[in-house]
Amino acid sequence: MHVVITGASSGIGEALAREYFGRRAAVTLVARRRELMEKLAKETDTKTHLVTADLSDPSQVTSWVDAAESALGPIDVLINNAGVQIVRAFTDTPFEDAEKLLQVDLLAPLKLSHHVVKGMIARKSGTLVDVSSMAAIAPTPGMAFYNAAKGGLAAASEALRAELKPHGIHVVTVYPGPVKTPMETAGRAAYEESLAARLLAPPGEAPVLARLVADAVEQKDERVIYPHMNALGRHFPALTRMLLDTFTPKVKPG
Ligand SMILES: NC(=O)c1ccc[n+]([C@@H]2O[C@H](COP(=O)([O-])OP(=O)(O)OC[C@H]3O[C@@H](n4cnc5c(N)ncnc54)[C@H](OP(=O)(O)O)[C@@H]3O)[C@@H](O)[C@H]2O)c1
Repeated sequence: MHVVITGASSGIGEALAREYFGRRAAVTLVARRRELMEKLAKETDTKTHLVTADLSDPSQVTSWVDAAESALGPIDVLINNAGVQIVRAFTDTPFEDAEKLLQVDLLAPLKLSHHVVKGMIARKSGTLVDVSSMAAIAPTPGMAFYNAAKGGLAAASEALRAELKPHGIHVVTVYPGPVKTPMETAGRAAYEESLAARLLAPPGEAPVLARLVADAVEQKDERVIYPHMNALGRHFPALTRMLLDTFTPKVKPG
């Protein structure tokens, strides 16, 4: 089985790589920081292929796919995980930064799936995994562009599932709430300290999420929501909106 993981150099992607090493998959790791991926690949004796690509550059989003398939065979599972987050006041955010976020978090995964799924359709098998965010279900004040990107990705992902099913392709949509990674640490630090926010959104662990994602791929589950208490946000959207509008702390200035 050939699994491609974007954003494999850190956090959830790094945990996904370890999870699939443990499942003896051949893994293509994609990110900018090659030295981190090299260190990670040394942990396993399974086949790996490293791709240094900047997904904020449209020309680098799919240019490496042929070489990855030559190295490890046709892609069975594509995990669109790479992402960036901006927690900043809407009007303080330079629009060029917002455009870059939309490129990495929304356009790159759509372009990569659009490219890779054609081969999957020809083979009548394959899985697309889109790592969206609870921000798609419960958009958070202070993250307008991130909410927009993750909402867009989740919307495409959820609807693609039925569209691609007759072709033998499965789609898993992943909604992480807070999960301990460098992104989560930086995101939390951008808000003023708030006990309510900590109590309402305790963070989960990346290796646990990685196991749930790999299980969902295997069992053809539709979506993963983790930490589990975040599933309440999906079932009680009006209450969640009220809690977010009331308890989201202020973004620190700057
Ligand atoms: N942690 C959370 O609480 C949380 C919650 C909801 C959703 N998520 C989502 O989960 C995914 C993983 O996040 P994480 O928490 O693991 O964050 P992280 O530790 O910051 O990792 C982000 C990964 O994305 C890669 N990446 C960022 N910009 C890139 C670019 N221009 N080109 C290629 N790769 C790029 C990074 O690699 P390089 O820097 O080496 O390129 C890194 O491997 C993201 O999509 C994020 O939005 C996370």
